[in-house]
Amino acid sequence: MSQHYQHDVLVIGSGAAGLTLALTLPEHLRIAVLSKGDLANGSTYWAQGGVAAVLDDADTVESHVADTLNAGGGLCREDAVRFTVEHSREAIQWLIEQGVPFTRDEEQDREDGGFEFHLTREGGHSHRRIIHAADATGAAIFNTLLQQTRKRANIELQEQRVAVDLITERKLGLQGERCVGAYVLNRNSGEVDTYHARFVILATGGAAKVYLYTSNPDGASGDGIAMAWRAGCRVGNLEFNQFHPTCLYHPQAKSFLVTEALRGEGAHLKLPNGERFMARFDAREELAPRDIVARAIDHEMKRLGVDCVYLDISHQPAEFVKAHFPTVYERCLQFGIDITRQPIPVVPAAHYTCGGVVVDRHGHTDVPGLYAIGETSFTGLHGANRMASNSLLECFVYARSAVEDIVAQLDRVPMPQNLPTWDASQVTDSDEDVIIAHNWDELRRFMWDYVGIVRTNKRLQRAQHRVRLLLDEIDEFYSNYKVSRDLIELRNLAQVAELMIESAMLRRESRGLHYTLDYPDMLPEAHDTILAPPTYAG
Ligand code: FAD
Ligand code: SIN
Repeated sequence: MSQHYQHDVLVIGSGAAGLTLALTLPEHLRIAVLSKGDLANGSTYWAQGGVAAVLDDADTVESHVADTLNAGGGLCREDAVRFTVEHSREAIQWLIEQGVPFTRDEEQDREDGGFEFHLTREGGHSHRRIIHAADATGAAIFNTLLQQTRKRANIELQEQRVAVDLITERKLGLQGERCVGAYVLNRNSGEVDTYHARFVILATGGAAKVYLYTSNPDGASGDGIAMAWRAGCRVGNLEFNQFHPTCLYHPQAKSFLVTEALRGEGAHLKLPNGERFMARFDAREELAPRDIVARAIDHEMKRLGVDCVYLDISHQPAEFVKAHFPTVYERCLQFGIDITRQPIPVVPAAHYTCGGVVVDRHGHTDVPGLYAIGETSFTGLHGANRMASNSLLECFVYARSAVEDIVAQLDRVPMPQNLPTWDASQVTDSDEDVIIAHNWDELRRFMWDYVGIVRTNKRLQRAQHRVRLLLDEIDEFYSNYKVSRDLIELRNLAQVAELMIESAMLRRESRGLHYTLDYPDMLPEAHDTILAPPTYAG
């Protein structure tokens, strides 16, 4: 039997954004936090490098803002950048209060018994400003926030729950536009349950799984973006998909990232013959912003016809490397690579979705009662290329800001009543799951080949043609068969792919992460690509 639940706040997603929001809300509210797998299955757990923030006395808000604008290729919204950076210190302070074990700088411990944290560097940053927990910052943050969340009686953590779609007054044919809940597949019971909520939060992460090769975990299928689109929300700048320059190249190393902080601590990128090459592409060499480094690697791999390039930190003392990068050291060693003595074979892979659901400063979407925070949102912070370690920062700052907005409305928003149960009377069990598996592979392969680091009009047209065929097939499947996690994700991924392709076709220039051979130059004026669904209320 399917169930009905009532919560003041329904948080879809248990990563940095979702947990921060749940922990910041007042304790008298009933909150559900959903995860479609186990609680750690989002990208947050895998984050390595750290969180960017203005913490050093020699650093300034102006400098962090200028670096972000510069990396963003002229497309960042300056007010969003300034807002985020200005709140960076207090966000880090909050994390420290929660107990996140950031790496200390032993050399800087103070005489008064206080201590300083070690700050590292990454591409695009002109200062050391990345606070981190060795090279496993995401796990340290996630574990700490989860521990705090478990202490709260008002927060229910629910695993193996896949949100299928949002429920809005408009979809129900009622007066009003509010989002009033969601239909959620309980993977344990196989039923689709109905969640009533006064406020619904999409904290569902990105969509990098749309590409064949990615640093992201399996669930990065853009569910929040697709659900918001179907509910009537605009999406922005989805053509800007960030490729991380250095993922481990090894047949058995699925999706393993080699943190940019290695380059921050002096690692060199090299060709197979040992020659360094970044100086030919940018004066900042290995610490140029990510779009430039990834494109340079792609260019060199294609020019030489090689499968990978190399990242070399073996000239640094072995003890330093092991102390700062224990995760990368251990993981590479499992594949027979001793990074204290050998260079690491690396390739670029899809890493981050810069665009997403259009939101305001409080994470509020176009649909009343619906918020989007973290990687699923489009705040204007990242522009045409996200600067390293600004993503986690955005999760904390906007989650905390969304809470202010929710709290201000608490008295005015009643609990929605009598939402209809999910109707599964017309569908049967699928006997053709091979279609789902086939379409997953096809989609991710053509997105990699046609909508990747270097694009052309022709490739985008091919991709658009194929994604439309897939969408028809998936729609038919969705109407006839019971939903499963794979089908829900495929439906969302194909929807987001279509939006990415359309956005890329609309951008007739090369800027930041969007590079096309047909329009290699940047236009004098920068504009966002904003798409509105037919249901957008305007
Ligand atoms: P996530 O942490 O991805 O969490 C998404 C949550 O939503 C999950 O709980 C998932 O189960 C849930 N969910 C999704 N869809 C549904 C659905 N339909 N129903 C129910 N639940 C759903 N950024 C930095 O700033 N610094 C770094 O050092 C850094 N390193 C990175 C390293 C790696 C390998 C990766 C992959 C990313 C890295 N990033 C880094 C990016 C950063 O980690 C992510 O952008 C950020 O963690 C996203 O957090 P989030 O809370 O928005 O989503
Ligand atoms: C990394 O550690 O290289 C990832 C940092 C990021 O994605 O911001």
